[in-house]
Amino acid sequence: MSRVVVEAKDLRKVYPIRRGMFREPAQLQAVGGVSFTLEEGRTLAVVGESGCGKSTLARMVSLIEKPTHGSLVLDGTDAVNPPASETRRLRQAVQLVFQNPYGSLNPRKKISAVLEAPLAINTDLKAAERAERARAMLAQVGLRPEYANRYPHMFSGGQRQRIAIARALMPGPKLVVADEPVSALDVSIQAQVLNLLADLQQELKLAYLFISHDLAVVRHIAHDVLVMYLGHVMEQGPRQKIFGRPLHPYTHALLASTPGIGGRSRKRIVLQGELPSPLHPPAGCVFSSRCPYAQEVCHAQRPLPRPVDERLVACHFADDFLVKGFPEEQEARNTAVPA
Ligand SMILES: Nc1ncnc2c1ncn2[C@@H]1O[C@H](COP(=O)(O)OP(=O)(O)OP(=O)(O)O)[C@@H](O)[C@H]1O
Ligand SMILES: [Mg+2]
Repeated sequence: MSRVVVEAKDLRKVYPIRRGMFREPAQLQAVGGVSFTLEEGRTLAVVGESGCGKSTLARMVSLIEKPTHGSLVLDGTDAVNPPASETRRLRQAVQLVFQNPYGSLNPRKKISAVLEAPLAINTDLKAAERAERARAMLAQVGLRPEYANRYPHMFSGGQRQRIAIARALMPGPKLVVADEPVSALDVSIQAQVLNLLADLQQELKLAYLFISHDLAVVRHIAHDVLVMYLGHVMEQGPRQKIFGRPLHPYTHALLASTPGIGGRSRKRIVLQGELPSPLHPPAGCVFSSRCPYAQEVCHAQRPLPRPVDERLVACHFADDFLVKGFPEEQEARNTAVPA
């Protein structure tokens, strides 16, 4: 059996937003209760529109921010309130890769210094051994070892992202949290970096928490998918289930609006209205204000994620959609001319 690397239960993050001197701060719920299990060698992709809480979730899982509520066990250790003796090990166990590799690489440091820094802090390796490890890591991410003597500005975007990946791998993490790691790259370079991530995952049995707004990318790399909207989980489960037959209207809309994966029969649906402010989420289901199929109950009661057809769906009508399809799919069937 594969080892569990991350066990997250009901993670929530609330930010107090100041509203002037004499008023109580407002409470902005950026993440409203996310649970998942992630095993070694597996990728969980988190998708959703801008502002739905993806990066906030990434920051909690990578120990940059403490959750307001919930539990997080990383590599067998409580990561919310870790024992003092374990903090260093935990910090090595999870590493981050960001969207913009240029912003996250210090322009004044040579690549060798960037890669060797974590070894200098966390190991007793001698300088020559650290240099050797850095060069070996460059080779592992598909770059020439002699690039160690160069500065970040001497590389292309794709090469820089390889360096950022190399840096993340130097401390020997179990989990890599990647927040939009290929979004800033050309499509052809995206595929190369995604293939590299997949190869490294196999070789090193890494677990990935992969944040992306791009479903075409997610379909390429994810084993499991978590779809978020306004801080809440809408649908969560194996990639084949989510992409093959979404059961939440929001997932359905997201897929239908992605060129190339909408599928033959999937009619393009345009989400109506604006994304509500997270300071004033709609009553009931948070998606109800934009859901084309919303009924009275949706505006009154928030549905919690529950198991339907081998995944979790937070929708009152998920079973109906499973049996009958979405309304416009039924319509298409009814109007189809028999052959
Ligand atoms: N430090 C903070 N203080 C207050 N509000 C915050 C803070 N960080 C994030 N938020 C709010 O929390 C919500 C979720 O933000 P988050 O950055 O996690 O979204 P995201 O899904 O990563 O979006 P994007 O796709 O644009 O990166 C947003 O409404 C954002 O404004
Ligand atoms: Mg983000």
